[in-house]
Amino acid sequence: MRLDKYISNATDLSRTDAKRLIKNGEVTIDDEAASNPAQKISDDQIVAIEGSTINMAQSRYFMMNKPAGVVSVTKDHNNPTAIGLMYEHRSEELQIAGRLDIDTTGLLLITDNGQWNHRLTSPRSDCAKIYEVGLAEPVGANYQAALAEGVMLENEKHRCMPAHMNQIDEHHLTLSIAEGKYHQVKRMFAALGNHVVSLHRFQVGDIVLDTNLEPGEYRALTDIEVTSIQ
Ligand code: URA
Repeated sequence: MRLDKYISNATDLSRTDAKRLIKNGEVTIDDEAASNPAQKISDDQIVAIEGSTINMAQSRYFMMNKPAGVVSVTKDHNNPTAIGLMYEHRSEELQIAGRLDIDTTGLLLITDNGQWNHRLTSPRSDCAKIYEVGLAEPVGANYQAALAEGVMLENEKHRCMPAHMNQIDEHHLTLSIAEGKYHQVKRMFAALGNHVVSLHRFQVGDIVLDTNLEPGEYRALTDIEVTSIQ
C-alpha cells in the first residue's frame, strides 16, 4: 500500500495531511526519513509519525449483523443500540458508518476512524450498498428501468442516482444503490407505488456480511476489508 494511504487508513488524518507530514520530514519508515508519498509499504515495515509508531491496528473496524429492534445511533433512551451490544473498551469512541433503520437488519460497519467513516458515507462516496428487499406488492415490470433511470423521491429536488436490481421472486429483489439518503430504499419503493416490508443489507463496497455472524454478533474487519474502502 502507498505510504500516504497507509497513514490515512491507520490514523484520522486525510491523504493531504499525510502528504504534508511526509514533505515536512515527519514520517519515518524503519527509522529512515520518508520523502515519497507513493512509496510502497510492506507488512513488516514500521511507519512512525514524529517518532510514534502507527499501524492499522490503532484504529478499530467492525462489522455487525444488526438485528431488528436495535438502533444505529450511539445513545438512545428507548431502544437498545448497536454499540450497546458490543463488548469493546472505549466504546464511546466508536461511530456507526452508514446507519440502518430500526427494522432493517444486516451489515452495519462500526469504527473509531472518522476519516474512514467519512470515505464510506460522504455524499460523494460512490460505494455500493446492496440490500435484499421484500415488497408488499409484486415487483413491477417497470421497476428495473425506473430504478436504472433514477427514481424521483418525494421532497427531493434531484433524481436518485441510477440503481440496479435483480429480481429474486415475485416479492423479493436485491437492490444496489450508491447513495445513502434518509430512508432511501423505503422511499424509492414508495415512489414506485409499493411498500417495503423487509430490508436486509448484506454488502457495502467489497465488504460482505459474514454469514457466520448471528443477529447481534460482530467481528473485527480484516485488513483487506478495511483497505477496500478507498
Ligand atoms: N434505506 C432505508 O429505507 N432504510 C435503511 O435502513 C437503509 C436504506
